Amino acid sequence: MSPSPSGRLGLFWLLALALLAVVGSRESQLRIGKAINIFLRYGYLGISMRVIPMNDNVESERWIFKEPTKNIYRNLSGLAESHEDTTPGIFHGDFHMEFCDNRRQLFQAYFRDFTVERMDKPWEAFTGGWFPDTAAKKLGINTSFIQGDYSYVLVRVVRFRETGKLNADIPIEQQLEPEVRARMEQLKIGNLTSAVGFIESVGTHYVSSYTTGNSLFQVFVYSRKNFKMIKERIRSKGLNALSKLDLYNYFAPWFAEHLGQIRSASANATVERWARRKLQYEYYVVKYVTLLKLHGNSTLLRSLDTLLGNDAILQLDLKSLNVVFREHPEKESWFHEVLDNNMKLWELNMPQNHASR
Ligand SMILES: *[C@@H]1O[C@H](CO)[C@@H](O)[C@H](O)[C@H]1NC(C)=O
Ligand SMILES: *[C@@H]1O[C@H](CO)[C@@H](O)[C@H](O)[C@H]1NC(C)=O
Ligand SMILES: *[C@@H]1O[C@H](CO)[C@@H](O)[C@H](O)[C@H]1NC(C)=O
Ligand SMILES: *[C@@H]1O[C@H](CO)[C@@H](O)[C@H](O)[C@H]1NC(C)=O
Ligand SMILES: *[C@@H]1O[C@H](CO)[C@@H](O)[C@H](O)[C@H]1NC(C)=O
Repeated sequence: MSPSPSGRLGLFWLLALALLAVVGSRESQLRIGKAINIFLRYGYLGISMRVIPMNDNVESERWIFKEPTKNIYRNLSGLAESHEDTTPGIFHGDFHMEFCDNRRQLFQAYFRDFTVERMDKPWEAFTGGWFPDTAAKKLGINTSFIQGDYSYVLVRVVRFRETGKLNADIPIEQQLEPEVRARMEQLKIGNLTSAVGFIESVGTHYVSSYTTGNSLFQVFVYSRKNFKMIKERIRSKGLNALSKLDLYNYFAPWFAEHLGQIRSASANATVERWARRKLQYEYYVVKYVTLLKLHGNSTLLRSLDTLLGNDAILQLDLKSLNVVFREHPEKESWFHEVLDNNMKLWELNMPQNHASR
């Protein structure tokens, strides 16, 4: 039996209020095995994780992660590995393009490397709360181009610095933190309060892998017609088969409707200034800034390699905390039921999903 829509909404607000209560005794560290509560800032996760430029960025702030976290297991460090890539003289990263039919696909593309177990649309945890002008500012385009009948190409150059991951499954005998064990034992099948209590004090997911570094990106906005044309050409021949002239043509102001600004994931002003200076392109009288200047230019990429620091989170894999209930399959499925229902309710209640706004 499924609950009535109004009953469901009532339950939603009840849970929303309960889950928004901030809990003490937490610290903020991006570490393997640390638990977070995805509902605390669902739809706005970019507030506490540096993943995309903030609107009112303060340069002096240096944090990349300030989501409250909690250890779930004792002594997990033996299972986690992290390493940093610093070999000189090469570019540690990747230049890529994503073809997005519409705004939703653009959001999805930006957050391609962020996964949240049991969530179909993990990018909504970051973008669900955005209004069009917020989205436009973050992505570096003018607001009029975020609504309406447009398609987009996201061009991005990513510099990976540090990666962390679990190098093995968490052993079944790994000791839980005493408080987590207590909450796990208190969870009663069918008792919603106890499940909410668990989520509030422990969380919903834990960090299973992450990559930090920084990126430069630029959004190109197209009419549907021109978008279709370049998508087909690049899809069928590949980027490298295009002549340099063709490539510049497709990403030029006379072919695109609008060229976004070049932004860095962390909104680092030094890096963005460098891009505005070094990535200028002149074609007769037309002068503009394009990320495509980096394509195939190893000299520029090498300078960028040292310039892009460890300022932002580029990839994150969050796994469900059901791991804690492995020895109690019925509790595990109750936990999942509460988690799944909540995620669906949040998805439905995000402003982005209301056509009228
Ligand atoms: C923590 O784990 C490491 C490696 O897994 C082990 O060598 C060490 O003895 C453990 N420490 C404690 C206090 O359990
Ligand atoms: C985009 O907005 C900026 C600043 O508001 C303005 O200077 C620029 O002319 C706009 N560009 C387009 C193509 O509308
Ligand atoms: C549900 O769990 C809460 C918290 O663990 C507890 O206080 C409450 O008595 C439980 N309710 C029922 C009906 O068992
Ligand atoms: C790379 O960029 C630099 C600076 O803009 C330029 O001088 C150089 O000719 C470019 N190299 C190639 C192979 O395009
Ligand atoms: C911005 O990037 C530059 C160059 O990598 C670095 O020196 C600086 O510390 C960064 N600024 C912030 C606020 O992270």
